[in-house]
Amino acid sequence: MQTTPFCYQLDKPDYRPSSYDNHIQRTLSSMKGQYVDQEAYGQMLAEDDVLLYEVYEILRPEISGELMSGVSIVHPGKVGTEYFMTKGHYHSVLDTAEIYYTHQGFGYMVMETPEGDWAVEELYPGRVLYILPRWGHRSVNASPTEDLVMYFIYPGHAGHDYGTIEEKGFRKLVVERNGRPEIIDNPRWSHANG
Ligand code: F6R
Ligand code: ZN
Repeated sequence: MQTTPFCYQLDKPDYRPSSYDNHIQRTLSSMKGQYVDQEAYGQMLAEDDVLLYEVYEILRPEISGELMSGVSIVHPGKVGTEYFMTKGHYHSVLDTAEIYYTHQGFGYMVMETPEGDWAVEELYPGRVLYILPRWGHRSVNASPTEDLVMYFIYPGHAGHDYGTIEEKGFRKLVVERNGRPEIIDNPRWSHANG
């Protein structure tokens, strides 16, 4: 780990960091139960465990004075009518924020709080999204062809809670209807809490 200030490059065409500590690749099989169309999910998985998204992490000590950063790349595609997306999570230390800067592509950040608030923000090049403390988040690639490429920064001690979302999902889904993205209620979420 670096003990003096350091730099890395995020260059076109793909904005992958010039150096990083960790490269995460998440495929369809890691999203069991997350896509609302379970039949489409099963059929697709039987054919191929496709790569949905990748994360390049620049890691620092997990303490409050440090910052974690990196690049996430969500590839284009759909499971049924639902776009490829990240697992989504709350930060384990709920009271920690995060910033996302979109380099390339088009999509949405789907967010909600344990208190019942929700928000969905568009993501496109040049746009900065500030996610407040307590807001769980999932990125969705709504482009038919392009990668959704984002740079993110969050506090070193935040940690990740995936279990809550795995169990309940998010209140809102982003699906394609008549060739366009649409934000709809998640029927599975209502059922799980109904
Ligand atoms: C970190 C963060 C991002 C995500 C990345 C992948 O707090 O929000 O780095 O980790 O976009 O998404 P998940 O972690 O939900 O698989
Ligand atoms: Zn996060």
